[in-house]
Amino acid sequence: MGHRKAAPLVLKGLQRLEYRGYDSAGMALYQDQVVSLYKTQGKVADLAALANFKDANQSIGMGHTRWATHGVPSDANAHPHSSNSGELTLIHNGIIENYEALKKLLVGKGYVFHSDTDTEVLVNLIEEVQKSHQYQLGKAVQVALSQVVGAYAIVVFDTKKTDELVVAKLGSPLAIGMGDQEYFIASDASPFIEYTNKAVYLEDHQLAIIKRDRAPKILSIATDTFTDYYIQELELSLDAIEKGGYKHFMLKEIYEQPRAIKDTYRGRLLAEDGLIKMAGLEEHLDKFLNAKRIIIVACGTSWHAGLVAEYILEDLVRIPVEVEYASEFKYRNPIISNQDVVIAISQSGETADTLAAIKLAKEKGAFVFGVCNVVGSTISRVSHAGAYTHAGPEIGVASTKAFTSQITVLSLIALRIAKAKESISVAQYKEILNELELIPQKVEIALLANQRILEIAHTYKGNHNCLYLGRGVNFPVALEGALKLKEISYIHAEGYPAAEMKHGPIALIDENMPVIVVAINKGHYEKTVSNIQEIKSRKGKIIAIVTEGDTTVQELADHVIEVPETLECLSPLLTTIPLQLLSYHIAVLLNKNVDQPRNLAKSVTVE
Ligand code: F6R
Repeated sequence: MGHRKAAPLVLKGLQRLEYRGYDSAGMALYQDQVVSLYKTQGKVADLAALANFKDANQSIGMGHTRWATHGVPSDANAHPHSSNSGELTLIHNGIIENYEALKKLLVGKGYVFHSDTDTEVLVNLIEEVQKSHQYQLGKAVQVALSQVVGAYAIVVFDTKKTDELVVAKLGSPLAIGMGDQEYFIASDASPFIEYTNKAVYLEDHQLAIIKRDRAPKILSIATDTFTDYYIQELELSLDAIEKGGYKHFMLKEIYEQPRAIKDTYRGRLLAEDGLIKMAGLEEHLDKFLNAKRIIIVACGTSWHAGLVAEYILEDLVRIPVEVEYASEFKYRNPIISNQDVVIAISQSGETADTLAAIKLAKEKGAFVFGVCNVVGSTISRVSHAGAYTHAGPEIGVASTKAFTSQITVLSLIALRIAKAKESISVAQYKEILNELELIPQKVEIALLANQRILEIAHTYKGNHNCLYLGRGVNFPVALEGALKLKEISYIHAEGYPAAEMKHGPIALIDENMPVIVVAINKGHYEKTVSNIQEIKSRKGKIIAIVTEGDTTVQELADHVIEVPETLECLSPLLTTIPLQLLSYHIAVLLNKNVDQPRNLAKSVTVE
């Protein structure tokens, strides 16, 4: 809302947000009490093709790119949704859990629904409240939301109220970009960063009334009082959210890892002085030192980083660690006490399952430490303390640089606690510290295998199954490799601990089964070599990730990809790289949409 033409701005913004969901898209433009609505199944590019938006002069607009929850991807289910009178228009991110009961009530009052969405219920609920009490839009939204169970970030406009938007948030993120007599509202700051670097992040249970000619007013929905707000100066740069010459964001982000890892330890790892300085950790070190147990909660790739951390923390810190799928944690009545420390890992900082796990952990008295990438994200704010990963914006849906940055932060945390606890020797502490500092340049070397990995991808792109094996700290790397392949190439892949193969998955192995084995010269190397022998005896095709100069595995494997020598505990930072590249190349060769794989979304803000 402001003085610019809204349509091109909204389209560009939607393209930047498209990684969050991309099965349908829509836009509403508003001027002189007339709403023009455009909706389509498909991508933002399909929306852009619906009309000549360049000539659209309206200066108020809203757009949405959807990841279906209620109702299949279709034109009708795409947002924005209008109320029955056509006066209210609304976009929504989240889920209204009690929408069926509300819908029944509204149908009873004569409302008609044109979509299967929970969102259409919400817009009509607001209309019903507005009509029955003669409320202004803001008040109607506030009262309607108090009847809603679920999560939302919404924007609503009312044709009777020129120059006003009402926005509200619970659970899903919502940022207000503060320009000069113009305001931008989005799920994150990427759509408006070239217009303003000032933003207000709405808190849960807050509602804002935004008018073109005055500062937004923010209201607490529950207490019905206006509150002050803090305007953040953002450091996000435009370069960071563009492809910068790479064909895909995923490839760009794979290649950004040396920088991302360095940025993550910069100012924290002072190898020369033998120091680790992390403000968020330092202030609460006693919580970790006195913890009876560390519980790590996360989803997907972040969960894999948690598994890597489990090995490192237990080994160095000698505190029992449990790693939980955040989505399961809440639903199994876990035993948690105030002597537990919960580490919540999340790239986006918005994952609903992880947020729900944090909420429960806090209720039970645990201390929650968040490891997030997105600055100002919900998880970073609701945690008692935390540390950012500094990977920079990750746009590709398949997580890459966030994973290695998470392992970097978690290694620093483990080292700092181990030093304070004296659970490792000074020599070992220094050795790991010095080696961590060398990791970015070793990642650069690992990336040099790209061409070779592309050739391997050509050989295996037609396979329908794939097995990934690793031991110890490289077992989660196997899981992560399999996840990367599944999500972007749609090839069935499974990760297993190498030794577990003989307890079942070995039955799958024949001459058509590629088996990717992480077989670096550390940990249980000889045992992994025996596992490779077992695969070879059954004619499986072996792609091995080995340490530079390895000759033993070279003789057994069909293909080897070398990574530089490093300490076992830090090896996932290197062994992950070829697996990311292999998945990337296979997906590209199969002509898949690498950055926006089907059915997925970058931040999963629903449980
Ligand atoms: C995989 C991937 C997902 C996320 C998961 C958690 O490549 O991106 O599995 O890791 O949805 O997301 P965050 O880390 O944002 O909580």
